[in-house]
Amino acid sequence: MTLSGNSPKILVTGGAGFIGSHTVVSLVNAGFEPVIVDDFSNSERSALDGLRTILGREVTCYPVNCNDASALEDIFRKERPTGVIHFAAYKAVGESVAQPLKYYRNNLDSLLLLLELMPVYNIANFVFSSSCTVYGQPEQLPVTEETPRLPAQSPYGNTKAIGEDIIRDAVHAKIPVKALALRYFNPIGAHPSAEIGELPLGVPANLVPFITQTAAGIRSSLTVYGDDYNTPDGTCVRDYIDVMDLADAHVQALKKLSEAQDTSSYDVINIGTGRGETVLNVIKTFEQATGVNVNYSVGPRRAGDVEQVYADVSKANRVLEWEAKRSLAESLRDAWQWQQKLSVKQ
Ligand SMILES: NC(=O)c1ccc[n+]([C@@H]2O[C@H](COP(=O)([O-])OP(=O)(O)OC[C@H]3O[C@@H](n4cnc5c(N)ncnc54)[C@H](O)[C@@H]3O)[C@@H](O)[C@H]2O)c1
Repeated sequence: MTLSGNSPKILVTGGAGFIGSHTVVSLVNAGFEPVIVDDFSNSERSALDGLRTILGREVTCYPVNCNDASALEDIFRKERPTGVIHFAAYKAVGESVAQPLKYYRNNLDSLLLLLELMPVYNIANFVFSSSCTVYGQPEQLPVTEETPRLPAQSPYGNTKAIGEDIIRDAVHAKIPVKALALRYFNPIGAHPSAEIGELPLGVPANLVPFITQTAAGIRSSLTVYGDDYNTPDGTCVRDYIDVMDLADAHVQALKKLSEAQDTSSYDVINIGTGRGETVLNVIKTFEQATGVNVNYSVGPRRAGDVEQVYADVSKANRVLEWEAKRSLAESLRDAWQWQQKLSVKQ
């Protein structure tokens, strides 16, 4: 795919990671020119090979830590982006409990620096990766953006809540930045080509990589944490959003920000499917979609798990003119194809 020299450039921090790499594909398909900044602290350079195969061209990538102010300024001066999507962050909940300062330093310094530098380089549009973790266990479902945030359960979750507050306060003080915080529900799946996907380090904390690794024989068995919750089959309920749909939501967010007349604005938007799925239903759907059985057993509840959370996505539908299109079965098939490709490489 070729792009004209005047496609708007978008800086994508963390663009080699799971959600970032898929968003790079959507950006190119929508006529933007992504510029990746990633220090590869939680990704591999092979993601760039996957992007090259999918897109048929190179994507510019700076192997830089986005807390490095002078490196970032050099990139802003050279590339002159019109927007920033800020994915770069550490995201392992358990590690954040053990090493909170590492998480606060990485996740918040990078955000502060970007918000300080964007006005200097006349970069107007900012999309921030937030999370449904800010809601904790909400009293009412589905969760709207008006649902009160609850105290974070982990330093990682807290970096998302504090991150949102930093942007809100900066915009309140009228910095010339238009910002959207997208609160992702549970991203799953992979690009259908299986050229890019999720790379969990160590034992996955998320359900779908655990399912695919168990199906591939990397893990002997999957533990379902509790089947005595107040849900249709007793297992926890989540809103699983396909990573390609999530990627498209970022493109829509950027388009809407660039159309907006205000010079300073901030809003938060849920990005999910609006559907809650139980753990057992995800396992069953995986088995039906792939024809592969998953060895699982039911264990006790896991500390810190919320019973159920799923999104009210009417704001995303209305404001972004976006909706999730892929089915759970499709996402699980793509995740399985990606797992098979990873297993061959290992
Ligand atoms: N995956 C999820 O379940 C989920 C859910 C809600 C929110 N989020 C948020 O979405 C964003 C992307 O998540 P992901 O799943 O793609 O994670 P990921 O770890 O796959 O991607 C993050 C990328 O950022 C890079 N990075 C981290 N710190 C950096 C720094 N200081 N400088 C440069 N690069 C840096 C990593 O190398 C990695 O490539 C994160 O902010 C995460 O907190 C993720």
